[in-house]
Amino acid sequence: MLTLNSPFVHLCLWTVGLCQAQTQTTDSERDVLALHASGRQKVAEIGVWHGVTSSRLLRAMSDTGEFFAIDPYPVGRLGFSVQKIIAQRELSAFRDRKIVWLRETGVEAANRLRAAGEAVDFLFIDGDHSYDGLRADWEAWSPLISSCGIVACHDSRSSNERDLSDTGSVRYTSEVILRDSAFRVIDEVHSLTVLRKNKLPNS
Ligand SMILES: C[S@@+](CC[C@H](N)C(=O)[O-])C[C@H]1O[C@@H](n2cnc3c(N)ncnc32)[C@H](O)[C@@H]1O
Repeated sequence: MLTLNSPFVHLCLWTVGLCQAQTQTTDSERDVLALHASGRQKVAEIGVWHGVTSSRLLRAMSDTGEFFAIDPYPVGRLGFSVQKIIAQRELSAFRDRKIVWLRETGVEAANRLRAAGEAVDFLFIDGDHSYDGLRADWEAWSPLISSCGIVACHDSRSSNERDLSDTGSVRYTSEVILRDSAFRVIDEVHSLTVLRKNKLPNS
């Protein structure tokens, strides 16, 4: 049964301009992401959803850079992904920019980039928030961050607004990511943690 919350109803309302694309990031989180993505050349987002944060990252990064939009976009009951349709239309405003759509998981995308010898200088992880999901993304992507590159993890900390202490991604962040000696925390806001990779020798 179609309800007001159903993706198809949202798609119809969004198509006629009666509602906006959705995001789980806050205004302050997007401001911090844009600050650290500023001028970056190779930017990746794991978990694009409707592309709201992607738009902000695209506006902040270098306009000669490359943006990797990574999301498996599983098909819904209607046989297609409503979220993918909305995201692709939202990002069509950037048609003169290099956007690489990778309809696959973060780990599959990392394997593809590694095989192509690619690295990124800014990564936003906002896909699978389970403990094992973030572990898989961190293990696959942390070697692909270039020297002094940035990685930002959503839903990685509790804040005054939200207690996320039982969330797998928060536990993995505190148990593993914050202890990774190759990175140091440079910013935190709401549920977002931003880390910079240390300068690599010979870079
Ligand atoms: C919280 S939403 C992303 C919100 C988006 N980053 C934003 O700022 O508006 C999570 C997205 O991650 C995607 N996703 C789930 N598992 C994933 C995985 N293993 N790799 C990449 N994306 C995944 C989902 O399809 C969904 O679109």
